[in-house]
Amino acid sequence: MEKTINLTVNGETRSIAVDVNQTLLEVLREDLGLTGTKKGCNQGECGACTVLMDGKPVSSCLVLAVKADGKTVMTIEGVAKDGSLHPIQETFNQKGAIQCGFCTPGMILTTKNLLDKNPNPSLGEIKEAISGNICRCTGYVQIIEAITSLAKEKNARGGV
Ligand code: FES
Ligand code: FES
Repeated sequence: MEKTINLTVNGETRSIAVDVNQTLLEVLREDLGLTGTKKGCNQGECGACTVLMDGKPVSSCLVLAVKADGKTVMTIEGVAKDGSLHPIQETFNQKGAIQCGFCTPGMILTTKNLLDKNPNPSLGEIKEAISGNICRCTGYVQIIEAITSLAKEKNARGGV
């Protein structure tokens, strides 16, 4: 059974006919071609499919697309602006926090949410925030360094 939903994805409003059983992850990747959102476990365990829905991180493999009707979604494709990488993307690059890159889109969106709501997270808060995003490559050290450095820069700019 199909239903038409309206979604604002990366600032653009889209009207899409979806199967009622389709997940948001499937719609993003297969219907909208936004393949930056990764499919890992497909069971809510790995965080590779993380997107921001109404500003909050969700595992898009666990969200039925019909439940996203009327919502605002940000995927990794919406993070860079005007052809320039977002500071989070730049810093992840510089700090070696990206190896195979599979976890990176979800990790960056989780980091964005963390720093938007808490510009000065403690180490414990950083670890807690990324605890749902599994990285099999970095051992998390470079990722935590990148987030710490971003927080310091943000504070130096007065939280902006
Ligand atoms: S693919 Fe969604 S949490 Fe792993
Ligand atoms: S960089 Fe490979 S899983 Fe994180």
